[in-house]
Amino acid sequence: METMGSLRRTDMCGELTKEHVGREVVLMGWIQKRRSLGGLIFADLRDITGLIQIVFDTDVNKEAFERAEGLRSEFVVAVSGKVKERQSKNLEMATGEIEVYIDELKILDTAETPPIYIKDDDDVSEQMRLKYRYLDLRKPHMQRNLILRSKTSKVIRDFLYENNFNEIETPFLTKPTPEGARDYLVPSRVNSGKFYALPQSPQLFKQLLMVSGMNRYFQIVKCFRDEDLRANRQPEFTQVDIEMSFVDVEDVISINEKLIQRIFKEIKNIDIELPIKRMSYQTAMDKYGCDKPDLRFGYELVNITEIFKNSGFNAFKSTYDSKGMIKCVKIDDSADDFSKKGISKLEKFVKTCGAKGMAWLKYENGEIDSPIAKFLNDDEKNQLISVLELKEKDIAFIVADKESIVNTALGALRIEIAYGKNLIDDNKFELVWITDFPLFEYSEEEERYVAKHHPFTAPVDEDIDKIESNPGEVRAKAYDIVINGDEIGGGSIRITNRDLQNRMFRALGFTAEEANEKFGFLLEAFKYGVPPHGGIAYGLDRFMMLMTGSDNIRDVIAFPKTQSATCLLTEAPTYATENQLKELGIDVTEK
Ligand code: AMO
Repeated sequence: METMGSLRRTDMCGELTKEHVGREVVLMGWIQKRRSLGGLIFADLRDITGLIQIVFDTDVNKEAFERAEGLRSEFVVAVSGKVKERQSKNLEMATGEIEVYIDELKILDTAETPPIYIKDDDDVSEQMRLKYRYLDLRKPHMQRNLILRSKTSKVIRDFLYENNFNEIETPFLTKPTPEGARDYLVPSRVNSGKFYALPQSPQLFKQLLMVSGMNRYFQIVKCFRDEDLRANRQPEFTQVDIEMSFVDVEDVISINEKLIQRIFKEIKNIDIELPIKRMSYQTAMDKYGCDKPDLRFGYELVNITEIFKNSGFNAFKSTYDSKGMIKCVKIDDSADDFSKKGISKLEKFVKTCGAKGMAWLKYENGEIDSPIAKFLNDDEKNQLISVLELKEKDIAFIVADKESIVNTALGALRIEIAYGKNLIDDNKFELVWITDFPLFEYSEEEERYVAKHHPFTAPVDEDIDKIESNPGEVRAKAYDIVINGDEIGGGSIRITNRDLQNRMFRALGFTAEEANEKFGFLLEAFKYGVPPHGGIAYGLDRFMMLMTGSDNIRDVIAFPKTQSATCLLTEAPTYATENQLKELGIDVTEK
């Protein structure tokens, strides 16, 4: 145990219990608060395990008592004393049945009044929390989050070591890796004008390690992506990155399910039943409007486009004619829960998702009640009743638009409604593998096909012939693990054939020169005997949000960045000095 002069720490504050009454202890930590009462001074002493009340009494030690009069919040102290049972117990405190009567006090450091309170329910702004992060991290819930993260990493390491994975580091100063975000660039002083890119993932290196014969690789590793930040995204985040040789989809999924099961058991004592549910990408899009469905509640989307193929209702008919889609989400037995005002709020919500508008219908007294009812004929109404299986007091919300907009809007609306109805239970975990992703995705912006995952993802064997003729129909040997509507990890079996890899690059619009310039080293490696391989990467930060019940990724990272990718603590990024820029041969024209 730690020693401070004559004092050697014997115990941790939060670990003492009634069983320790009578014991002489030495504790070290921070003063949470101090108060005087009659001839006694009470203080709460805090260390990483929790709080305990310490008492200074002139009868026990006058000198310690006098010194304790100078104690202030956040002073750092070492104390020795005897554990006693408390007369007035504080049952809200874990150690509230006992206290320690102090016979020696050493003040190890003083402290100014901290700019934020060291308590969980402090409602200070996040800016202040990030600026004084080292104080924010003194809060019990933040310490709990970091400790749980550390334990989770250990569970992951233990499992992977037991299963013969080797932990291997890969470079941070490297070439661009194509994961779809912008790169962070680092200028090279000794190679003037040239830049390294920080890795968006170790994807290509882990594949090269398979070419090297390393068989099973993993790494808990920082990845860097310059992309628009959201509540579950950081510019630098941590992946649990895994790759295996001589495997197919089933092998990767099978070992990873066991890993996920182990984490849930050891961290949350929750039994995850294997095999984990699977759902094809198409089913997820059809039923939930997105490829990361939250399955904690129902509200599946229903496609009603066909009902309106001859409709007299212009808005729907024109959507049908222009090959758009009409879908709806039905909420059972809830017609009375949605007032006109409530519905108009929801309409505003779907508009923020890109929809032009939203229709609704209620089924009441055996009839459809809706502002659009007058435009619908009896046949359409009857079809709606039977397709949606409408029952008394059901309500349905309808969006007609381009398929992608309908899915985005209704996918978000079902979640919004579930939140409103309090159906989202943070203690429930719904896991699902999403499989059969398309290999390509059409980018309207770039007017070409782009890789749905990354360009090294293998196509399903029977779809290979369609790479040139019908790229939109090619399925990938890719899989994502989705938990409670969040993509926690994703991976694939890789292309290991040079010709196929070249066809893939061509389909993505790379010329042979471009492919060679960007990924020549991989294509070269593919000449020398490549084992079939595949893998996965988990977002550890996202996993930890689930494990800790946090709704903000910053709460599971010790020193995170703000939404605008800055660090309020260190004030990074900063300007470089003239000298540094000169050495790097960089001219900054705008500041
Ligand atoms: P992918 O790009 O899907 O796959 O990333 C894997 C997982 O990393 C997490 N993630 C993030 N977490 C926080 N902030 C971000 N900005 C961020 N971006 C991604 C997600 C995601 O599921 N090389 C491939 C993996 C493979 O094919 O093996 C890859 O990086 O949870």
